Amino acid sequence: MKALIYKDKSFSFKDIDVPIPTQDEVLIKVYNTSLNAGDYRLIQLNAGLPKSGILGNAIAGVVESLGSDVKSLNVGDRIVVDTSDAGFGGLAEYAIAKASVCVNLPDAVTFIDASACPVASTTALQALTLFKTIKQKDEVLIVGASGGVGTFAVQLAKHFGAQVTAVCSTQNVDSTRQLGADVVLNYKKDDLHALNETYDLILAINGAYPLSLYRKLLKKDGVYVMVGGPIKQFIMNMLLCPVYSLGKKKFRILNSKSNSSDLSQIIELVSEHKIKPSIELVYPFNETIEAFKTFEKGHSKGKIVIQIQE
Ligand SMILES: NC(=O)c1ccc[n+]([C@@H]2O[C@H](COP(=O)([O-])OP(=O)(O)OC[C@H]3O[C@@H](n4cnc5c(N)ncnc54)[C@H](OP(=O)(O)O)[C@@H]3O)[C@@H](O)[C@H]2O)c1
Repeated sequence: MKALIYKDKSFSFKDIDVPIPTQDEVLIKVYNTSLNAGDYRLIQLNAGLPKSGILGNAIAGVVESLGSDVKSLNVGDRIVVDTSDAGFGGLAEYAIAKASVCVNLPDAVTFIDASACPVASTTALQALTLFKTIKQKDEVLIVGASGGVGTFAVQLAKHFGAQVTAVCSTQNVDSTRQLGADVVLNYKKDDLHALNETYDLILAINGAYPLSLYRKLLKKDGVYVMVGGPIKQFIMNMLLCPVYSLGKKKFRILNSKSNSSDLSQIIELVSEHKIKPSIELVYPFNETIEAFKTFEKGHSKGKIVIQIQE
């Protein structure tokens, strides 16, 4: 099979053997895989890379064969899966995954849309639900609203009934409004320090604002959740979140987990047209290296998806 291998700090396409599933695994014929920050972080750190050298943890495809113990799936099932905890492997014509974490796809959900969901949508869902229960009309501020995680976060927050203020740059203002954000701020023009509003929940998905600003923007029992951003921002948050949480306002750092029941919930919302994955571009498999270059710039409009097989 054709696979994109990352080894010795560079990518190359190779022809390798199709993997063999163990008893509780399935072999998947991969149709689409989306890129996630986890892929390029492993490249940047040059650590934690999958043994196979095959990145790609957000996979949609068809079950090709079953391990001997698998009863929950059948050959031919359309599935989506997050393989972050199990060797990645999505940038190849075939991949393996534990049967127990594969989610069946309704006919209404395309492979392209499905592959955009693992990691990005479940990160958004966990950021919105793990530390606070959103009530109708709660004010939610989403900074970094136009990327993979942000576009899901805006839609999910609206789905939960929140009033959403989204922060993105000029080029994404219209698309973010179309996702349902009630107020869209352009971080190239609008000064967040000048805001007079306060929020029940703040998701810091990108950007590098001081925690003192976020504290000022939180309501008295509000919760701040750091999802992502530059490494320096992450270090500052690691040091300061416990101190800032001593009062009523809480400051949390999300470490999202691969979770098939969260993914299943998202797929149901997509199939019911309650949310729609935002996809910037679908690249053919042989242009995956270019796709990574676009993704690494950090200004994606939603998700970047790779077409592995037609
Ligand atoms: N905590 C976790 O468990 C977890 C899980 C997954 C991802 N993450 C992290 O979450 C972050 C976002 O991931 P992603 O997949 O959404 O990335 P992405 O698709 O590359 O999106 C990045 C987005 O950030 C926006 N952005 C860049 N600079 C900004 C700034 N100064 N202020 C506001 N927005 C800015 C960009 O919008 P513009 O083009 O409009 O600037 C772009 O749309 C990454 O840091 C990733 O590592 C964390």
